[in-house]
Amino acid sequence: MSGLKYPLKVKAVWWDEGEKRVCWINTLKLPFEKEVICSDDVERVAKAIVDMEIRGAPAIGVSAALALAAYSYKLLSMEVRDFYSELMKAIDRLWRTRPTAHNLFWALDRLKKIIVNSRESRLKPSEAVEEIEKEALSILNEDLEANIKIGEYGAELIPDNATIMTHCNAGALATAGYGTALAIVRIAWYQGKNIRVIATETRPVLQGARLTVWELLEEGIPVTLITDNMAGYIIRKKIVDLVIVGADRVTREGYVINKIGTYMIALAAKRNNIPFYVAAPTSTIDLLSTIDEVVIEERNPDEVRRIRNTYIVPENTPALNYAFDITDPDLVSGIITEKGVVLPPFHENLVKIMK
Ligand code: MRU
Repeated sequence: MSGLKYPLKVKAVWWDEGEKRVCWINTLKLPFEKEVICSDDVERVAKAIVDMEIRGAPAIGVSAALALAAYSYKLLSMEVRDFYSELMKAIDRLWRTRPTAHNLFWALDRLKKIIVNSRESRLKPSEAVEEIEKEALSILNEDLEANIKIGEYGAELIPDNATIMTHCNAGALATAGYGTALAIVRIAWYQGKNIRVIATETRPVLQGARLTVWELLEEGIPVTLITDNMAGYIIRKKIVDLVIVGADRVTREGYVINKIGTYMIALAAKRNNIPFYVAAPTSTIDLLSTIDEVVIEERNPDEVRRIRNTYIVPENTPALNYAFDITDPDLVSGIITEKGVVLPPFHENLVKIMK
């Protein structure tokens, strides 16, 4: 997309217009190797999402949409009936990749509507692919624009000389570009604010250490890495002025589902009277599910038993691996969206902003 207001230095997922494929950076290999993979195969993209080559709620939604567009071109020569039924199967496959990020289901629902409408309007595959591609590219471009807006609204909340703590990676590598929490950091930095970031390492997948630190170093924004269990002490020491994290899902009542460890940081922030902000596009807000209905992903315990590929305990050691946790609405100072900053009471104000 041209005409963006800020330089797009890091991209996680994009569309290969010439070959009609989805491309992504394999974030598992960062920061030491920048491997780019392109595909028009839904199974390959589904695997990339499950294995976390592609991760971060908005990036998961965008890549699923682009995967369907790429796959539709691959199916072009099929009989009309098979074309549409293969696409419905592809939606079902992508639906079953990761359960927590709302953006995935939001994006798949949008594509499903286009596919069903095309079928009901008796569009030929050659006509339908154009509609599907257009919708997938809208999802990509809307995410870029939303992140710029989130960055601009959020930057207003950042005082000069601030130290910002963030958790996991809510950066360009988790979105179509710029990030959510890190868009705020980027734009505050571009505005000339003297800021620095404290990044938690984010065990077990190390998105903070491997991705957030890399992204910020690429921009020249000062960043200091800490282990996850240092967060409470660093906040207590008054080193941090505010916390900004992303979200995988925000419910109607303002519960924030985000990377495991977020809740402990929010508790420490509350106890020490520092603001705890959540940066998320409205595609992350789920007005329909109650908090008890949200599925918190449990991943392979081997991720906990190992650091990268090395076991740190005997292989049969029992281990738990919840990928996300839940932060209560009363711990959240504000939710920064592309439509503005939502303040408490969230159960009233989230509905208003989603209208
Ligand atoms: O397991 P991940 O890496 O997909 O989890 C990512 C997060 O928890 C992010 O904070 C969230 O998706 C927001 S990204 C803008």
